[in-house]
Amino acid sequence: MEITGNNTPDADVTDGKVYIFDTTLRDGEQVPGCQLNTEEKIKIAKSLESLGVDIIEAGFPISSPGDFQSVQAITKAVTEPTICALSRAVEKDIECAAESLKFAKRGRIHTGIGTSDQHIFHKLKTTRENIIERAVKAVKFARNLIDDVEFYAEDAGRTDNEFLAKVVEAAIAAGATVVNIPDTTGFCLPDMYGEKIKFLKENVSNIDKAVISSHCHNDLGMATANSVNALRNGARQVECTINGIGERAGNTSLEEVVMTLKKHPELNLVTGIDTTQLYPLSRMVSETMGMPVQPNKAVVGSNAFAHSSGIHQDGVIKNRENYEIIAPEEVGVQNSDIVLTARSGRAALKFRLGAIGVNVDGEELNSLYKEFLLVADEIKVVQDEDLRQLYRKHQKVA
Ligand code: KIV
Ligand code: ZN
Repeated sequence: MEITGNNTPDADVTDGKVYIFDTTLRDGEQVPGCQLNTEEKIKIAKSLESLGVDIIEAGFPISSPGDFQSVQAITKAVTEPTICALSRAVEKDIECAAESLKFAKRGRIHTGIGTSDQHIFHKLKTTRENIIERAVKAVKFARNLIDDVEFYAEDAGRTDNEFLAKVVEAAIAAGATVVNIPDTTGFCLPDMYGEKIKFLKENVSNIDKAVISSHCHNDLGMATANSVNALRNGARQVECTINGIGERAGNTSLEEVVMTLKKHPELNLVTGIDTTQLYPLSRMVSETMGMPVQPNKAVVGSNAFAHSSGIHQDGVIKNRENYEIIAPEEVGVQNSDIVLTARSGRAALKFRLGAIGVNVDGEELNSLYKEFLLVADEIKVVQDEDLRQLYRKHQKVA
């Protein structure tokens, strides 16, 4: 098995290359009702490869024979990205993860343990010293099986920074190539999370030997902001999922982070993602998982390129950039949508009539508009067929 390669982050990354670590098939798939079979997981993994993600977290192999089999099948079906398998800091988990990766061209074991006092005292019921010992032992054990080992400090978001720095330093000394700083409970504010990353950059003596990874949850709706702030403070890997799917309120949404970096070139942070595949992949994941995307979801929601108020419609018809910072085709959406409702104005009505081959102006447009408002108040959204009917009726009366 080749274990290092183009997609394994260099320890001394100083430029703006951001590694996209997709965990749709692991953290995303943990959502109740979203479980996938091996065939479905392979289909998604292949699309993630084509999208250009650097790392695919394919599953948690010790959790079930089916998950083990899926991870292994993905290592055979997908060759470009690094394939990552999750484990607890437990030898049998780590062995199982290594076994599931044995056919991978590039494989990574992701192992770790809780580091917050909450987890140490109330979940693991142990001491801080014991956590460091277990972290070191797990990383060393994993490094004997594979060259690429990512360490996660679970609940790092609520972990005291001084202690977190000690754990991270020990994990890197034990051989971790990537250190993941999860805000497991989605607790952090963007400034807090950014400062945490900065603190690690400044206080972990061997931090140049590993890549810092952000892993945020969306309990307070700040996962994307937190991830971007982590990158601005020195993280160079971002863990995310398609549609932000994930436990509770979800994980950082891949499409939001990628488009934020694309829309802000002044940040000098770049990904290798082909953004034109974002929308089709979002739909595919939503359908495969049976998990609808909220209409107002940033970047990929059905309303993300829809305009329904008169002022906005008039502005978009004059120049799309008046109200859109993303061109629909940049993310694989065909067109902006001018939705006709009772809030629409004459410009939108004229525009949509034009699209069905009816060109009206002046007084005729005014009188049609009055009739249109009556229909719109009644049926809420006026579709092309309703417009045709409206126009036919109008012609008869005129
Ligand atoms: O949120 C979290 O802490 C995780 C870890 C297992 C990486 O998903
Ligand atoms: Zn998580």
